[in-house]
Amino acid sequence: MEDTKVYKDRRLELSLEKLRDTISRRYGDKQPLCYLHSYGCQQNVSDGEKIMEMLRRAGYGFTDSAENADLVILNTCAVRENAEDRVFGAVGSLKKLKERRPDTIIGICGCMAQQETVCQKIKESYKQVDLVFGTYAYGDLFELLDRLLTEKVRLFHLGGDTDAINEELVQLRNNKIKATVPIMYGCNNFCTYCIVPYVRGRERSRKPEAVIGEVRGLVEQGCREITLLGQNVNSYAYGFADLLKEIDRIGGHFRVRFMSSHPKDASRELIDTIVQSRHICKQLHLPVQCGSNRILKLMNRKYTVEDYLKIIDYAREKSPDFCFSTDIIVGFPGETYEEFRQTADLLAKVGFYNVFSFVFSKRTGTKAAEMKDDISDKEKGLWLRELLLEQRETSQKINDRFVGKIKEVLVDGVSSSDKQLLSGRTDEGLIVEFAGDTSLIGEFVDVRITKAMNWALAGEIFG
Ligand code: SAM
Ligand code: SF4
Ligand code: F3S
Repeated sequence: MEDTKVYKDRRLELSLEKLRDTISRRYGDKQPLCYLHSYGCQQNVSDGEKIMEMLRRAGYGFTDSAENADLVILNTCAVRENAEDRVFGAVGSLKKLKERRPDTIIGICGCMAQQETVCQKIKESYKQVDLVFGTYAYGDLFELLDRLLTEKVRLFHLGGDTDAINEELVQLRNNKIKATVPIMYGCNNFCTYCIVPYVRGRERSRKPEAVIGEVRGLVEQGCREITLLGQNVNSYAYGFADLLKEIDRIGGHFRVRFMSSHPKDASRELIDTIVQSRHICKQLHLPVQCGSNRILKLMNRKYTVEDYLKIIDYAREKSPDFCFSTDIIVGFPGETYEEFRQTADLLAKVGFYNVFSFVFSKRTGTKAAEMKDDISDKEKGLWLRELLLEQRETSQKINDRFVGKIKEVLVDGVSSSDKQLLSGRTDEGLIVEFAGDTSLIGEFVDVRITKAMNWALAGEIFG
């Protein structure tokens, strides 16, 4: 007899069967639709794709609009206050939808949902929400939905197994060209400003066989770019450089990227592995956060500016084309303007091709939330503007260096600003726009760079 089981895990399998029955009784021949939106980082997007694959197996289809969905899920981010404000705004606007279509199920999950205080606030003040589930609870989703469809309840579930990695929860992959592959979950670093360790728990790594098997499968299906994910990939429990070496042995034409790397663990072995590899992009996202050793200490980052520069110099010595991007926090509690300038000067010195900069946001429960903070948000906003203006010049200078060169570009799709043009990325991650046929989407093409803007390059197909 054919084995029709979807999951080996008996509890998941049974709860899926039960939910499928409930769905067919409730919706009959009409396929129920889900609208899911993920906020935040790529790991959260990857979690959202796992939830979507579970829902697809349960019988749901997907829609781009909450208006015609039977199930609305907001997969949230808590990293900064404005991320949370956006979610509360979106939840507020779902109130009208719930009044018009009371049968629509509204669920909130992800990092923000994992916080007790947020869960409580939703319970009390956002009655349109039927379900809150945290970052450890995805494996319970079938049971939660089944109860919502059969009982008149609201459910708030922040439990779940904080140590488990369920290899059976796989991502729904709509993009055939690019894929993300999580290699580890959680974070042990407790940077004093950051909420992530509180909402994602301690580090746990997937087994190398599982990661390598997944990457190999994606390459066999024609995937051209794979990004390995973790809050700090170089503390991968089974050796990150070894994992990269194994992945690099896989045949085929594809690229590998990864993020994020913590400077305290960015070793020479890692740089050597990248430089010697065939598939791994010579690009490192290495968040420095700030350029003052005093502030780095208060942030609990465990490296100095000098340590950081050493790893940059080493990489450039091994391969002058090595590219770096970074994250910056402006206005950490107690930071002076002079210390902020040290950050700005560091950016100019390193020459990052991309900088993600944020004004410090106070996160309740973190150590930095207790620190004295004298500088107004308005002032910090001015510092950020100053930094962005200077970085624009740096980016222009970096991009200018590419003019006249021939670069291999992976074509992503059509340009968002000019539909006549294709858009793709170089090995370094720089955007390149050029004229070409849409049949090239998903292919690697050689492009001669003819012009540099501060945000992208323009070029023409070579050969
Ligand atoms: N684990 C990664 C790392 O350490 O680089 C990324 C963590 S976080 C998802 C991405 C970025 O958000 C951080 O690098 C930091 O710059 C920023 N960030 C985190 N907490 C913040 C806060 N409270 N205020 C402002 N920015 C914050
Ligand atoms: Fe947050 Fe620091 Fe962990 Fe990154 S390494 S997730 S910034 S605590
Ligand atoms: Fe990512 Fe935001 Fe959570 S950045 S880990 S979704 S707090």
